Amino acid sequence: MKLYEFTKSYELFEEAKKYVPNGIYGPRSPMFLTYGSYPAFLKRGDGCKIWDVDGNEYIDYMCSFGTNLLGLRHPKIDAAARAQQENADCFTLPSDLWVPLAKKMVATIHNGDWCVFGKNGSDVTSYAITVARVHTGKTDILVAKGSYHGAHFWCQPHGEGVPEEWKSHIRYFEYNDVSDFRRAVSESMGKVAGVILTPHRHDALRNQELPTKEFVDAVNSVAKQEGFTVIIDDIRCGFRLQLDGSAYHYGFDADLQTFGKAMANGYPIAVAMGKKELKPSAEKVFFTGTHFFSGVPFAAALATIDEIQASGSIEKIDLMGKKLMKGLQDAADAAGVSITLSGPPAMPFMTIAEDPTFEKNRYFCGEACRRGIFFHPHHNWFVCAAITDEDIKKTVDVSLECYKLTKSKFGG
Ligand SMILES: Cc1ncc(COP(=O)(O)O)c(C=O)c1O
Repeated sequence: MKLYEFTKSYELFEEAKKYVPNGIYGPRSPMFLTYGSYPAFLKRGDGCKIWDVDGNEYIDYMCSFGTNLLGLRHPKIDAAARAQQENADCFTLPSDLWVPLAKKMVATIHNGDWCVFGKNGSDVTSYAITVARVHTGKTDILVAKGSYHGAHFWCQPHGEGVPEEWKSHIRYFEYNDVSDFRRAVSESMGKVAGVILTPHRHDALRNQELPTKEFVDAVNSVAKQEGFTVIIDDIRCGFRLQLDGSAYHYGFDADLQTFGKAMANGYPIAVAMGKKELKPSAEKVFFTGTHFFSGVPFAAALATIDEIQASGSIEKIDLMGKKLMKGLQDAADAAGVSITLSGPPAMPFMTIAEDPTFEKNRYFCGEACRRGIFFHPHHNWFVCAAITDEDIKKTVDVSLECYKLTKSKFGG
């Protein structure tokens, strides 16, 4: 097999650096992947496939970091978006799809009695902690170490140029560690407005962890006892594990929940939802953005939720994710490479044994990419409903070859 080359991608990347700081920023930069073994720019996509600017084709297991649930260029979703586009997208007041989508969200999400709409996940996670503060009259927000809740000042992981004060009411604890959670609560005793949690632990650069029953029970009961809110950040898992929300899926008694990414199959919209008791507090929070009101993503979200329901997509991606995980495990075993596959099948991740700096994983994923399989060495992957058995077979065949290469480069 001829290995992919990325001539045009890297020419464009060099050019981009002249005009854009770092050329491409955030986790989509080739600097965060296996430099030289990934494309930098894509031209088009269809279903579970993407094509780069050099014409190379990939089976995409990143799905735009989770937005692509049903497949790129999904005919029903794109038709609904186009129909709204005919009426215009962003105009002076919300479109007439505002109420239908609010009703649909409330009817769909367990414990979601009301909702607000934003664009990005960061908009609504920041909004949710603000509602929690108004509702409780307290300041502190408990956050699990290493969890990602967005790019806003209070939660961004890097913090260059962000004054310390922006994070001064954020208190950290270890996910799934009941005693550390209790320690964080007691150190902020009387000041906690809420705990914000991803439904399961899906931090970058580590195996995923499902929440233990003890942890879920402790979060629910301590929050109730101390009078603070439970905020479940469902931006990444939402609409992927269970239609009525991942909080319900894992048993969290969520006061506030946030959604984004997959809910409109890639069209830009995010939602915060809450229990009815929090609605008066929500009404006091200042929340707006010029593009929050544009109608096309509302049309796409309505169509996406209907299609997920009608087509059984959640069951399908679970099944295909299971096939992928089994195939990868068998291939790694056959090549004698020790791997760990973690997380729900709809969004699995793989690590390689004795790989503390992820060097082996970057090599494996880079070699897979040069053969048409787009994995990420540091971040959990995503399975979309457009994937077929044939795609999984190709993925596993390529992976077997790449496990063998990894074994011969790194040994044991
Ligand atoms: C769990 C979680 N919360 C919040 C965000 C932020 O979302 P956005 O990038 O749309 O601002 C992300 C994005 O990856 C996420 O995974």
